[in-house]
Amino acid sequence: MRITGLGHASVLIESAHGTVLTDPWVNPAYFGSWFPFPDNSQLDWDRIGQVDYLFVSHLHRDHFDAENLRKHISKKATVLLPEYPTTELEDQLREVGFTSFVQPVSGEPIELDGLHVMIQALTSPTDGPIGDSSLWLYDGAHRVLNQNDARPSDLEAFTELGPIDAYLVQFSGAIWFPMVYELPERAKQALGLSKRERQFDRTLRYIEEAGARFVFPTAGPPCFLDEELWGFNDIHGDEANIFPDQTVYLDWLTARGHDEGRLLLPGSVADLDVADCPVRHPYDPATIFASDETKTAYLRGMQARRMPQVEAMKATWAHPEVDILAELAEWLTPLLEEADHIAAGIDGGVRFTAEDAERGDVDILLDFVAREVRAYAGEKVRYRFRTRRAYLEKLIAEHEIDWVNSLFLSCRFSAQRVGPYNEFVYVFFKCLSEERLNYAEGWFVEQNAAEAAESFVLDGWEMQKRCPHLKADLSRFGSVEDGVLTCQMHGWKWRLADGKCLTSVGHPIRSAPVTESAVSGG
Ligand code: FES
Repeated sequence: MRITGLGHASVLIESAHGTVLTDPWVNPAYFGSWFPFPDNSQLDWDRIGQVDYLFVSHLHRDHFDAENLRKHISKKATVLLPEYPTTELEDQLREVGFTSFVQPVSGEPIELDGLHVMIQALTSPTDGPIGDSSLWLYDGAHRVLNQNDARPSDLEAFTELGPIDAYLVQFSGAIWFPMVYELPERAKQALGLSKRERQFDRTLRYIEEAGARFVFPTAGPPCFLDEELWGFNDIHGDEANIFPDQTVYLDWLTARGHDEGRLLLPGSVADLDVADCPVRHPYDPATIFASDETKTAYLRGMQARRMPQVEAMKATWAHPEVDILAELAEWLTPLLEEADHIAAGIDGGVRFTAEDAERGDVDILLDFVAREVRAYAGEKVRYRFRTRRAYLEKLIAEHEIDWVNSLFLSCRFSAQRVGPYNEFVYVFFKCLSEERLNYAEGWFVEQNAAEAAESFVLDGWEMQKRCPHLKADLSRFGSVEDGVLTCQMHGWKWRLADGKCLTSVGHPIRSAPVTESAVSGG
């Protein structure tokens, strides 16, 4: 079996029983903010696209690239489709021309002409755009687990199928926090440092659980070629940067005694049939990664090649014909009326300021208490977002139902908030359709009932076994210090004395100190 890196989360897997292409992303995503790094636009995508199977893990635009799929990937390929609660991924793949689909039951292996395939679909409202997934393959000789962005609560479903030879996992950030927050530089620095540390630790826990012979850090980081986002690139020796390079993570792993890490660049070929899995690179990685100077020079070259595409796109973003307040009120008010759980979780106002120096700002309030959209009139709010008027006009003109998968991941906004992170805010903005909103509301209701069940004891505290955030097994991912529980999956914290979540609004945990009598069973 051979694995060819194609940039970001994209790989070509050549097995004894067919070829599989994953997440072939090339074109800039999220308002032209993200590009695959290193550049993969010069690969021969027509040749690469002649595959037996295509796997698109989820609908985030750095995984689902409609233009590349439409133009270059063979429509004879059979799509390996995750079992998601909505048909959006299948619909969008059909729209670009695919007609052949296999959708295995989530978590159950199937065999396709000798190739064993299992897809695990994660389906909480916070998993990607209502769904993220991992792909497991076995061709009779080697097993590959491509987890990319997905965050399963454990890997048992995969490890029990036999030893994993190649494990592909995300290690770098894919979020806007903390960079876009209007905070003092020192506070941002501290938040970035701990975010990066958490990403690295979480990935290490996964790597140790997978126990694979070889590990390939993939699915990031993107690079940012627009001058106004340039500072997000990891070229400033900044330990608080949440988009570190593959080489940085590989060094970090090596320092912790792990020598199974392998670097995959676009065009690198890893050969699993050879004992130590040699990787042949298309060029010397040092030409990019040797120093900040070499990386800067590389990115400047890429910027000259690829930014003209974004500059041309920018001219199409403004839609002066859109009446922002009236159209948002018409679109969002019915959704607000149905969003009982989400509205209760936000319990306040979210202000959006669409700025334009020439045409004037538009200032809007989404009131989750009165469940209405109106002009902002000085009310106290929980969250405030500022962005350009043209961006909001584009979202409205295109009826974009997922603002996380467009505006927020673009990092082309700034944010302020009062109090802790509120997950419900972002769930709402990714569920701007009746179908998604109803799914999310139903999921929250079910989750609350299911969480009550199992308990376990850790450091003198009895608590529920599943994390109130995304159900990680706390007997494995939890640690307690000074009465505060931290779940290492995403770093959320709870005060065990009263169960209060210290990271986000809502999400309390059931917890109590273990008493003498409880220990002795009396
Ligand atoms: S699952 Fe996200 S913090 Fe526990």
